[in-house]
Amino acid sequence: MILGIETSCDETAAAIVKNGREVISNVINSQISIHQQFGGVVPEVASRKHIENIAWVVDAAFKDAALNYQDIDAVAVTNMPGLIGALLVGLSFAKAFAYGLGKPLIAVNHLEGHIYANFLEHKDIEFPAICLVVSGGHTSLLYMKNAGESEVIGETRDDAAGEAFDKVARFLGLGYPGGPAIQKAAQMGQPGIYKLPRVFLDRNEYEFSFSGLKTAAMNLWMKSLRRGENNVENMAAEFQAALVEILVEKTISAALHYKAGTVLLAGGVAANQALRETMARRAQNEGLKLYYPSLKLCTDNAAMIAGRAYYDYYNRNFSPLNINAHPNLFS
Ligand code: KG4
Ligand code: ZN
Repeated sequence: MILGIETSCDETAAAIVKNGREVISNVINSQISIHQQFGGVVPEVASRKHIENIAWVVDAAFKDAALNYQDIDAVAVTNMPGLIGALLVGLSFAKAFAYGLGKPLIAVNHLEGHIYANFLEHKDIEFPAICLVVSGGHTSLLYMKNAGESEVIGETRDDAAGEAFDKVARFLGLGYPGGPAIQKAAQMGQPGIYKLPRVFLDRNEYEFSFSGLKTAAMNLWMKSLRRGENNVENMAAEFQAALVEILVEKTISAALHYKAGTVLLAGGVAANQALRETMARRAQNEGLKLYYPSLKLCTDNAAMIAGRAYYDYYNRNFSPLNINAHPNLFS
């Protein structure tokens, strides 16, 4: 029975997961409405809100699970990557909580947590698999030999997919977070009326670049505003279609090249309906199995952290109480 704690960005989250599979409780306190007025996450504000919320969020996870503090076997917490101040709130709380209870501490990489969200819900995933991790801070393609062994085969050279959604939503006046806002606007628009490039980077097949797409969208939008046109819905639809096409085609071609029969989606952008539908269609055409987490487990949550920690618990791979938080992946 593992308690997970997640505070890497703007969600204060705690969850209890049994045997790395069964979500007993999953509490998420989102700060979105607070950051919305600033048009994006303000790191200092996020840290302060985590401090205010962490104790009651953890308590709520125990109450929902109808468990006492002593009933858990370990405390798992995200220690990288993320906003450093935000990470430190969760990590410090987790250290104190584990030390006070005399339970082991397990530090978890946030991106491994996102990938693990798939295993919380799908019990029969076969390997090898190609996993597309798309969040606000990261875009990577991984070749997974099995659940514990993976290799990064491609990454973004510049903006992450979620970051591109957020930036484009911002200049279209759609607000924060940009992904859900663009998805909603796109549902009322049509792709193809505005025309954006599909940047495939032919020579580096599995690398991504979204900054050019974002700039192209911005230039096209400014030009169209000067002509007195401003169809936000059509621009949102074209931007989403371009980004989704790039993500889907690279993922499918990686699966075929590496002879992986399974495709996994992970991270906040995996909540995108167009991405889920387009990937499902292409995967079916190619005879590939596709898995993605349910919406609540795509975006930031602590169940994925508690779940991922089960491997380390099983192998008695615990973290020392002086372990630090890191803003980047491998610092
Ligand atoms: O994984 P996540 O919750 O936090 C990070 O680890 O970054 O991902 C947040 C990102 C944001 O950029 C947000 O705009 C994007 O995921 N996102 C979406 C959708 N829901 C969240 N992007 C596209 N479509 C969505 N429905
Ligand atoms: Zn995340």
